[in-house]
Amino acid sequence: MIPTLKWTDEGVSFVDQTRLPLEEEYVLAATYRDVADVITTMVVRGAPAIGVSAAMGLALGVKKSTAATIAALSDEFDIMCDVMANTRPTAVNLFWAIDRMKTTFSRLAARPGITLDGIRSALIEEAQRMYDEDIAACRAMGAHGADLLPQSGGVLTHCNAGALATCGYGTALGVIRAAVERGHDIHVYADETRPFLQGARLTAWELMHDGIPTTVLCDNMAASLMRQGKIGAVIVGADRIAANGDVANKIGTYGVAVLAKEHRIPFYVAAPLSTIDLDTPHGDDIPIEERPHTEVTHHAGRQLTPHGVGIVNPAFDVTPAKYVTAIITEFGILRQPYEESLARLQAAAVNG
Ligand code: MRU
Repeated sequence: MIPTLKWTDEGVSFVDQTRLPLEEEYVLAATYRDVADVITTMVVRGAPAIGVSAAMGLALGVKKSTAATIAALSDEFDIMCDVMANTRPTAVNLFWAIDRMKTTFSRLAARPGITLDGIRSALIEEAQRMYDEDIAACRAMGAHGADLLPQSGGVLTHCNAGALATCGYGTALGVIRAAVERGHDIHVYADETRPFLQGARLTAWELMHDGIPTTVLCDNMAASLMRQGKIGAVIVGADRIAANGDVANKIGTYGVAVLAKEHRIPFYVAAPLSTIDLDTPHGDDIPIEERPHTEVTHHAGRQLTPHGVGIVNPAFDVTPAKYVTAIITEFGILRQPYEESLARLQAAAVNG
């Protein structure tokens, strides 16, 4: 299995996604601040992986804290949560994970007779449970979504919504993996995904690792391939899905969705419940991270653009719900109108 992140006795271990595919190196985050840095610098990235990393970071912070009382630990924990919340703004899985750890902390702290060590070990267990649940959710998305993909032919994906973006198996790539396991003869077309190149570097690396036929294309080639009839479906992940079904995902996703509609190609989004944000009514309300401009101006340490030229670098865009053929979740497939199907899903999940 691809070792995206792992709890160890010394801290949280991450495969360094800034160095893949040619170097497979590991980074050990020994403090919660190290985990926050690893998220900010995109050593680990992808919405579900960011969420579980934050939960492990908080568990690590509590484990290493020298606080002598529960009240002191609780004050420190609030600071840890703030540090974690200030890493990346768009993936709602980050805030979902922090909230879940906060709720767990409060429930434990209110328990009569609880010790500091009791809180420490219960928070570590909670973070590890989130890790296991994430892999199970990816497998379930795969099982629900596999037969939406063509029996044979090309499937386009954008960015990396794979094992590297989750604790294992992947969301969009999990659906592709499940389809391949069921005998679909799929050829994956991976958009390179400028400027961070998650498609060219990460999607290509992990699909080749699994022996799934893959071709990388520059982002501006997708339209032409669609027109040539090479793409039978598009599938992507998501960083946040608003209550109306608008989907925030890696910059460039919106353009792919519009192209898919024009060419009558289904456009699927695979995402777990932790990516759905019913508190955000509309896609326009989703905060979009602006990344450092050097990601656009430079490549491999070399400047590409003239000094002083204007640069934009939004890391995500929003695809309006009307372009989304279906949303694949761990609980099943959602269809339009998403206001209703998302609300029904959330209500069913809350009621167990
Ligand atoms: O900036 P990144 O690499 O964290 O962005 C990742 C994406 O946009 C993914 O498509 C999304 O998080 C879904 S991952 C299962």
